[in-house]
Amino acid sequence: MSTHPDLAGKVVIVTGAGKGIGEAIAARFGSVGSSVVVNDVDAASAEAAAQSINAAGGTAIAAAADVSDSAQVDTIFEATLAAFGTVDVMVNNAGIISPMLHFFDADEAWWRRIIDVNLTGHFLCNHRAARVMAKNGGGSIINMSSGGATRAHRSFTAYDASKGGIEALTRAMALDLGPYNIRVNALMPGSIDTAGMDTEARAYRGVNIPAGRIGDPFDMTGPALFLASDDSSYVTGDVIKVDGGMLAQQRSATVDIVHPDTFPAVEDL
Ligand SMILES: NC(=O)c1ccc[n+]([C@@H]2O[C@H](COP(=O)([O-])OP(=O)(O)OC[C@H]3O[C@@H](n4cnc5c(N)ncnc54)[C@H](O)[C@@H]3O)[C@@H](O)[C@H]2O)c1
Repeated sequence: MSTHPDLAGKVVIVTGAGKGIGEAIAARFGSVGSSVVVNDVDAASAEAAAQSINAAGGTAIAAAADVSDSAQVDTIFEATLAAFGTVDVMVNNAGIISPMLHFFDADEAWWRRIIDVNLTGHFLCNHRAARVMAKNGGGSIINMSSGGATRAHRSFTAYDASKGGIEALTRAMALDLGPYNIRVNALMPGSIDTAGMDTEARAYRGVNIPAGRIGDPFDMTGPALFLASDDSSYVTGDVIKVDGGMLAQQRSATVDIVHPDTFPAVEDL
């Protein structure tokens, strides 16, 4: 049974959906009957992800493009309108982290590339999507932030700045687009295993997360569907943390005064 019947038949673009979080979100929209446009700069992975949605009984097309390039972004929308006629949901997931550089090793090209893909990519896609949505009576835009927008990572100055920009963009767009019935929100993933860690690495990384585990790309999909659906019709300008409690804690488990190993055992409650 579909978890979100109102999303059946909705046209959803997901950028950077050839793998990782974007692929999981695109697949979940496919599973509830949305028409999915799978974008990625890597054409082969976009094609494979779209095919796997179609093979599972969903409806998807691939639209390879670099979201930082205005002319290429136009092609995503041309393909979407040709195939499905409109855009109801825009998920801006495409983003890059690497290379990670200490501030003293950073240069302008590094800064510009990360800001171009992560922040300008959001602007270029949203600028086009919002116009279509406004003419169509409304829609939902979902941006992809990071804990780095609130608390910094070492050697991630450009990435963290891009994500801070995405959260500010989310709020500002929500104000401009509210009168057009377009809601604009962001998801903030915590530590999500998109690289395929082994069991030991997952356990090691999970220790410091209040939920006790690292996130799976599927963990991002429910919140994405919520923000796309009418269930969140009064939610806009917001950032939803999907991080197993990471940002809620002051000290990681390994350095906290009270270690989680000392918590009462369930059988003693
Ligand atoms: N994985 C995490 O723990 C985590 C945490 C916080 C935020 N995020 C954010 O979530 C999003 C997805 O992360 P992920 O871990 O799935 O990444 P990933 O590297 O596994 O996948 C990203 C996808 O985006 C594509 N891409 C890169 N540049 C692109 C461009 N210019 N145009 C179109 N597609 C492009 C890549 O080819 C890749 O398929 C990113 O915005 C990232 O910053 C991830």
